[in-house]
Amino acid sequence: MGDRQGGVLTAIGDTPLVPLHKVHRGPGEVLAKLEFLNPGGSIKDRAALKIIERALARGDLVPGQPVVEMTSGNMGAGLAVVCAALGHPLTLTMSEGNSPARVKILRELGVEVILVPQVDGEPGKVTGADIAAAVDVAKRISVEQGAYYVDQFNNPGSVLAHEEGTGPEIWAAADGDLDAFVVAVGSGGTFVGVSRYLKSRHPSILCAAVEPAGAAVLAGKPVTKPQHVIQGTGYGSVPPHWQPDLMDESIAVTDEEAVLWHRRLAVEEGLYVGYSAAANVCAAVKLLESRRLGPDARVVTVLCDTGLKY
Ligand SMILES: Cc1ncc(COP(=O)(O)O)c(C=O)c1O
Repeated sequence: MGDRQGGVLTAIGDTPLVPLHKVHRGPGEVLAKLEFLNPGGSIKDRAALKIIERALARGDLVPGQPVVEMTSGNMGAGLAVVCAALGHPLTLTMSEGNSPARVKILRELGVEVILVPQVDGEPGKVTGADIAAAVDVAKRISVEQGAYYVDQFNNPGSVLAHEEGTGPEIWAAADGDLDAFVVAVGSGGTFVGVSRYLKSRHPSILCAAVEPAGAAVLAGKPVTKPQHVIQGTGYGSVPPHWQPDLMDESIAVTDEEAVLWHRRLAVEEGLYVGYSAAANVCAAVKLLESRRLGPDARVVTVLCDTGLKY
């Protein structure tokens, strides 16, 4: 287990939960957890830290051993922070379709980044097939390097980070007074971990997944539009540790809505965040405007990453 005392790792988590009163004046209230404040700029720092600490504690990773992962950027940045702090060389594979800003950040954090050509997506729009191609390269490299392969989609640490961290933080900051939790799904770690914790505290808390319109597989719909702007989420397949019983509903968000809310959050709230964050707030507002919750309902969501990464 790494020594977290005094280093950058102590800055991961414990993010503020703030009301968004400018972009939504009612009914009800949207509360957003400012995950872009983590040192790697996104919520994935939490999963990176939990996965590496767990691997060290279990002996799956030994001090100084290389680490390899496929990333859309944010898990990579989280791993870069954690691996730098704990002294593990890191190699990441990434689809060429992810934003060049992310590649630059990772390389400046000392990471070896290997770009993998897209299969059927286009720049800025990464599909499930693009991700699968990048995963194949990561697996091959991890064998070659004798590295620890993170495998975020299958690693239980992704869920545990949120069940033991994000969920309890939300519950405490909201004083147990919340009606719904709404979040977009990539690996599903955030949705599954937070929903598990919140429902253990109060089973009636509504948990909604946010999905790109046209790729709402969790809602049981066919994929008609695999390309979308909500990077890091909506890969068109059900993630391995998905728990369908936790999802009360799925809320679809279009590219146009994500772009609009990205702009509104920046201009009206001073929150310059990414497109999944924007989609999350859009979905939270849709839920409140549907009037299925009470007029004073409180809906919690997450601002997953900073807009500086796009
Ligand atoms: C920008 C962004 N939003 C949302 C998510 C989804 O988080 P999770 O993997 O916990 O479902 C990710 C995951 O990489 C992401 O990069």
